[in-house]
Amino acid sequence: MSEVTMDKLVALSKSRGFVFPGSEIYGGMANSWDYGPLGAELKFNVKKEWWKMFVQERLDMVGIDAALIMNPKVWEASGHVATFTDPLVECKECHERYRADQIDLKAACAKCGRKGTFTEPSSFNLMLKTWIGPKEDASAVAYFRPETAQAMFVDFPQVLQTSRKRIPFGIAQIGKAFRNEITPGNFIFRTREFEQMEIEYFIHPSTWETVFEEWLAQMKRWIKHVGIDAAKIHDLEVPAADLAHYSKRTVDLEFEFPFGIKELYGIAYRTDFDLKNHGTHTGKEITYLDPETNEKYTPHVVEPTFGVDRTVLAIMCSAYHEETLTDEKGETDTRVVMRFPKSIAPIKIAVLPLSKKDELSSVARPLAERLAKLWKTEYDETQSIGKRYRRQDEIGTPYCITVDFDTLNDNAVTVRDRDTMKQERIALSELEGYLTKQFN
Ligand code: GAP
Repeated sequence: MSEVTMDKLVALSKSRGFVFPGSEIYGGMANSWDYGPLGAELKFNVKKEWWKMFVQERLDMVGIDAALIMNPKVWEASGHVATFTDPLVECKECHERYRADQIDLKAACAKCGRKGTFTEPSSFNLMLKTWIGPKEDASAVAYFRPETAQAMFVDFPQVLQTSRKRIPFGIAQIGKAFRNEITPGNFIFRTREFEQMEIEYFIHPSTWETVFEEWLAQMKRWIKHVGIDAAKIHDLEVPAADLAHYSKRTVDLEFEFPFGIKELYGIAYRTDFDLKNHGTHTGKEITYLDPETNEKYTPHVVEPTFGVDRTVLAIMCSAYHEETLTDEKGETDTRVVMRFPKSIAPIKIAVLPLSKKDELSSVARPLAERLAKLWKTEYDETQSIGKRYRRQDEIGTPYCITVDFDTLNDNAVTVRDRDTMKQERIALSELEGYLTKQFN
């Protein structure tokens, strides 16, 4: 088994339609990536599983779906206008820009090769600006949200009132976030437009340490559930000097990506920083009255945050396997197989008639349509059966169903398991029952 590299993953993503360069027919756009048919399914499954685990299955959680562009005053109150910055340096010779904390300022400029040409670091605000409406002046400035989190704070009073939840409870949201990153890169790892899955869990301040540990454990449960290699996860206790402006404690969950150990997720104790600030800026008290103790307080918050795109990348890195197969004649071949968990696999079932002959497709196509009502199913009748199996292995399809000439007599099909490559003959009438067992 050989290690996954970014070159292999990017090539597979492009050739099979997981992720490809955005706007490619116009020559692309730097660091813009589009999820193709398989990537869109994969990403959708990630979000679906996350919502199921953290919203549907928990009685103490509710979800929202808020506007992307919020009142700009939100970002003043949250501290993002003043402090959501990265240190920027520019090469005075070629004007290439870098993040000062990511390069050696004494080394040569990576673009023009000159030394000692960097400007003093300045603070660069990462929020993506736009104008709302027909005027392009200061009164019309707005920001694409740099995190989904703020809507959960701003909407807290309405959610509290309408959902009738009591503390402790959490609000979750999945959606796009935008950051004008100075140095995006490493495929979908760091982009200027990405998706987050975030939870703001509202608590009594006295409980934060326990709640923090509980959520950290839940994040690890999720990591296993979606097939991210847990042996490649490292906890990083973020040093006080590096904490975000709102955090009193942050643990980053880092993953061994092929380009290095980097942040996958984070969990932060945001105290009452956000609710207090929104209260001050709006002049509206945002508090909670405990119906049992009559104590009135500003809830504190533990925030587990998950990047969707980094999840997809870590899942793909973990799923990628190369295996050497030896046939009866002793000849060897390499099989690439994406061992996605079944719930995450973009295509669950492939229906493959042995040949393109009408007798077989007249059985196989209606079968594919029947199964597609229950699972994402692909129908493929071109190329040799061996090549079709390999393609399905490469895209991580758990089950291939072959309709052959025997099917016309015995009303049964062959079901091939992606991981073991074992084949079983199953009666057509029992197929849904058999597959339901496999997927559960
Ligand atoms: N609300 C807290 C927050 O936004 P963050 O660490 O800045 O915290 C949360 O971002 C997660 O969003 C990260 O752990 C990462 O998974 C993802 N993320 C952040 N910036 C990203 C980028 N430029 N491209 C892709 N994912 C990103």
